[in-house]
Amino acid sequence: MKQQLERIRSEALAALNAAADGQELEALRVRYLGKKGELTAVLKQMGKLSPEERPVMGQVANNVRAAIEETLEQAKTHLAAKAMEVRLQAEAVDVTIPGEAVALGHQHPMNMVLQEIKDIFVGMGYQVVDGPEVELASYNFTRLNIEEGHPSRDRSDTFYFTDDDSLLLRTQTSPMQIRFMENHKPPLCMLAPGRVFRKDEADATHSPMFHQIEGLVVDEGITMGDLKGALTTLMKRIYGEDSVMRFRPHHFPFTEPSCEMDMQCHKCQGTGEVDGQVCSTCHGEGWIELLGAGMVHPKVLENCGIDPEKYSGFAFGMGLERMAMGRLRINDLRLIFDNDVRFLNQF
Ligand code: PHE
Repeated sequence: MKQQLERIRSEALAALNAAADGQELEALRVRYLGKKGELTAVLKQMGKLSPEERPVMGQVANNVRAAIEETLEQAKTHLAAKAMEVRLQAEAVDVTIPGEAVALGHQHPMNMVLQEIKDIFVGMGYQVVDGPEVELASYNFTRLNIEEGHPSRDRSDTFYFTDDDSLLLRTQTSPMQIRFMENHKPPLCMLAPGRVFRKDEADATHSPMFHQIEGLVVDEGITMGDLKGALTTLMKRIYGEDSVMRFRPHHFPFTEPSCEMDMQCHKCQGTGEVDGQVCSTCHGEGWIELLGAGMVHPKVLENCGIDPEKYSGFAFGMGLERMAMGRLRINDLRLIFDNDVRFLNQF
């Protein structure tokens, strides 16, 4: 019997030490220590022993049980530690791996050009202001000396809100001249960028919504020379010292005299042709119209309570999209509004 017990002990210990996981350990516990286990089976034969042998064997059996129990506990602890190790390795985070760079966006190309233009004018002392897109007809037209019945007031050109045509989406940033002069006394120097709206079909050079930048300077002794100086400075800073501009006489009801400023076409260099074809950017003109300008009409000054005998001023309104297209060599206005990232990423 002693041999039987010793065999159980050595078999059990070897099996426990070799067990691969908790399940196997539990099976071994049942096999050796369970009610129907091997050790129990041997102990059931104790009755056959002589009274002298019985306590001796009992002692041996207890030792074997204790040894198996102890080894079982050790194996449990060991396997748990091993499992934890495996898990830690599998779930390890390598904090030294370089992070993935987050793709950063950037300003819209039109905003880049707007920022450049604002910087240039701020450098010349202009104050940048903002105004309403939903405007009164009196500011958009009447007080700018645009009379009832003037073609620019036509319903086919203007988005009106009311039947009496008194409220509209501003068709130009020029109402900001009136708004600014209402609240400021000369000398004044203002720049007002913003959205304007006209009933235009969208094509390569037109959109029902576009941006203008209005400028206004009023002081004593302001002349057309000041206007040309300010605008030439802007153009040379934006398009380069060698860019070619021209001033052309024009008519606006709110300036007198009035002019338009054109830039030589960047696509065809003023020839109107590209590879024997009519230049698509300037439609063969050789020039791109950038802005309207002129000396503020005395009636407009009067409408704002400024004495035209004492003060004079100039005003200009330029198309921001046109400026951006020339500056960034974009040949279709729709690209600016489509916001296709393949286009935007090029800037
Ligand atoms: N508002 C005019 C336009 O939209 C441009 C302009 C502004 C002309 C200021 C003269 C003075 O065409």
